[in-house]
Amino acid sequence: MERKEFLSKLGIGFAAVCVGCGVAACGSSKSNDPTPDKPDDGDDDGNLFSVNLNSELTAVGQSKVSNGVILVRTAAGNDESSFTAVQVACTHQGTAINYNNAQGRFICPNHGSQFSNAGAVLVGPATTALKQYNIDINGNTLTVSA
Ligand code: FES
Repeated sequence: MERKEFLSKLGIGFAAVCVGCGVAACGSSKSNDPTPDKPDDGDDDGNLFSVNLNSELTAVGQSKVSNGVILVRTAAGNDESSFTAVQVACTHQGTAINYNNAQGRFICPNHGSQFSNAGAVLVGPATTALKQYNIDINGNTLTVSA
């Protein structure tokens, strides 16, 4: 076999291998998958935490802090309207607020900002309302969600 003939045969073989690679690559590609898996965002559809109303927040004025939210029972009964949930971090400088049941409002112990049950600013220096969260009750389980 002469050198020219050898190189010619080698070229055909190389081209066949390359076509095979291309087909194999296309067959194993998942880029055209019409239903790719969604990344798990970890927030479980916006649910932040749940409370068993048989054992927690049984008295008016009691509160629970979890996941950056303060949940307060503001009235008797297990209706959504008997509770409120707002961000626990004061919108002034981030200090954790408390609920004052006698005054029916949230008060920041740092500089004295006060917020309504719905999170509206009543007294500064804070100028921005607290974020309010959703409350759903199913049986004796209360769930707070974003
Ligand atoms: S941090 Fe709450 S009033 Fe300043």
